[in-house]
Amino acid sequence: MIFRQFFHAESCTYTYLLAGRTGGEALLIDPVLDCVERYLQLIEELDLKLVKAVDTHVHADHITGLGELRNRTRCITVMGRESPADVVSMRVRDGETIDIEGVNLDVIHTPGHTACSYSYRLPDRVFTGDTLFIRGTGRTDFETGSSRDSYDSIFNKLLKLSDETLVYPGHDYKGDTVSTIGEERAFNPRLQVKSAEEYCDIMDNLNLPDPKMMDVAVPANMVIGMAQSATGDESWSMTVAEANRRMAEPDFVLVDLRESGERERYGVIPGSIHAPYKQLDQLIAPGGALREMAASTARRLVYYCAYGERSALAVQASLEAGLTGVCHLVGGMDAWTAGGGPIDG
Ligand SMILES: [Fe+2]
Repeated sequence: MIFRQFFHAESCTYTYLLAGRTGGEALLIDPVLDCVERYLQLIEELDLKLVKAVDTHVHADHITGLGELRNRTRCITVMGRESPADVVSMRVRDGETIDIEGVNLDVIHTPGHTACSYSYRLPDRVFTGDTLFIRGTGRTDFETGSSRDSYDSIFNKLLKLSDETLVYPGHDYKGDTVSTIGEERAFNPRLQVKSAEEYCDIMDNLNLPDPKMMDVAVPANMVIGMAQSATGDESWSMTVAEANRRMAEPDFVLVDLRESGERERYGVIPGSIHAPYKQLDQLIAPGGALREMAASTARRLVYYCAYGERSALAVQASLEAGLTGVCHLVGGMDAWTAGGGPIDG
């Protein structure tokens, strides 16, 4: 496995790059906007393809690199389902996995610092975001923080992992880079408490100033989605109402870009075909299945995904590849479901 830890000095944020092999797929955890060039340079040097950019939560101290990375690489943006961010490509919840070639992250919901805080685990290590730090814990006194939730997340989820599990936090203000669950259980001063009440008492009386960047970062990090219908070209988009009305017509075909797990969990639009977003480049290249289908049947391709971000990117990629007449379902399966559209499965 390829593993790199980046440091953003202004916010003391750690960002992690993971990949299964040189030349393979990569993902980033908690990328910072200021450092996007550095990530992309290393990704190119290692001959990797960035396919997912993941945030552990909505950050208050730096602006996320998710939107910029998506714009530059068409990668899939991922956050927890509780995230108040406007649009991310994929939302995950406790017990699911985030998968790329050769790397499967277990998703653990660890609210407390914020309600949308998640930790991501590999067999030998856990990325704890701002839930658990090295000899500290993430503050719980602003936004959707809760000291009681933080206690439950740390004591009943993270400290249940084996002692040898490596802990890679979202920040460190002293320069420490890695710890273990066993070390934190034994030596983290915030965890030497006898009860949840004692922990909450510490956390609720820290009296910390607001993060310097909070007034800028939080609003910026809530609006990271790609503009889905403001592309200046109405022919790009199809609303749920229109798709619902026309789905029985023979002149277009709905193309589901989601992963198999998302299809199983949330169902599919009847009659749609499956073309995973990760394989889109091959499918729309000359000789690719989607390109052939569009050419041979003159049917219009209508892409859809979970929230409309992957599908908007797919329209861009298709137009660049020379396919015409493609469009996408605005708001994706989420809007389709809310609009009462029929669902299989
Ligand atoms: Fe944070």
